[in-house]
Amino acid sequence: MKTILVTGSNKGIGFEVVRQLARAGHRVILAARDAQKGEAAAALLAKDPIAVTLVVLDVADPVSIEQAAQRVKAEFGTLDVLINNAAVLLKEDQSLATGTAEVFHKTMRTNVFGPVTVTRAFLPLMPAGARVIMTSSGGGSMTDPVGGWSPVYCVSKSSLNAATRHLAFELNSRNVSVNAYCPGWVKTDMGGKSAPRNVEQGADTAVWLATADKTGTGKFYRDRQEIPW
Ligand SMILES: NC(=O)c1ccc[n+]([C@@H]2O[C@H](COP(=O)([O-])OP(=O)(O)OC[C@H]3O[C@@H](n4cnc5c(N)ncnc54)[C@H](OP(=O)(O)O)[C@@H]3O)[C@@H](O)[C@H]2O)c1
Repeated sequence: MKTILVTGSNKGIGFEVVRQLARAGHRVILAARDAQKGEAAAALLAKDPIAVTLVVLDVADPVSIEQAAQRVKAEFGTLDVLINNAAVLLKEDQSLATGTAEVFHKTMRTNVFGPVTVTRAFLPLMPAGARVIMTSSGGGSMTDPVGGWSPVYCVSKSSLNAATRHLAFELNSRNVSVNAYCPGWVKTDMGGKSAPRNVEQGADTAVWLATADKTGTGKFYRDRQEIPW
């Protein structure tokens, strides 16, 4: 049984990751920036019945991140798996060349500084063998052609991929693995109704990375297969 925290897990792919991991018997911490939304999500799981611990964590707020880390330390002592899932894709994100600085800052603060700051804050709680999982996107690929959609979001995920590789290199000596994965295009508030995948499919690789015997480190995955950066 592992202790696992998933950021931004009051809905969408993160919520499904929490559901699957908790159902498999792990101690799962559902982290949400909004306490009421987190309580509603935990209440929904309780009907199954699946028990989780709710922690308030706004990945764009360093004070909130530090408070969440202290709470987890006090309650659980260690953290075996950190799944950085929270992110934004803003509807105003139409052009890197002419879009507002606000869109750029908010996206980078949430999607890049967020997961890196969360990882730094929880690292002291993570023992040898612990895992960090970054929820990235094919939109951040440096191999695929540029798609032309949500450019700031795509840049944020490329940056997250770069951070994944560097953190993996640095944390290798502590035997903490750091990998990124793309859930595919998934039907959620972010992915929209036209997306071909459901949340079960979207959550699968994160659950696998959290629980598989061996996953390596510094890699990018989709559908449990390594893909090029
Ligand atoms: N859906 C797709 O097709 C797709 C494709 C590739 C990658 N992804 C990635 O998969 C992950 C989950 O996406 P999703 O589709 O499940 O999106 P979603 O349904 O929009 O859920 C996003 C979650 O992130 C939370 N969040 C946003 N800003 C936050 C902050 N500052 N602090 C804490 N939580 C915050 C949201 O909380 P609130 O409810 O409070 O807003 C929500 O719980 C993201 O990293 C996304 O980039 C998704």
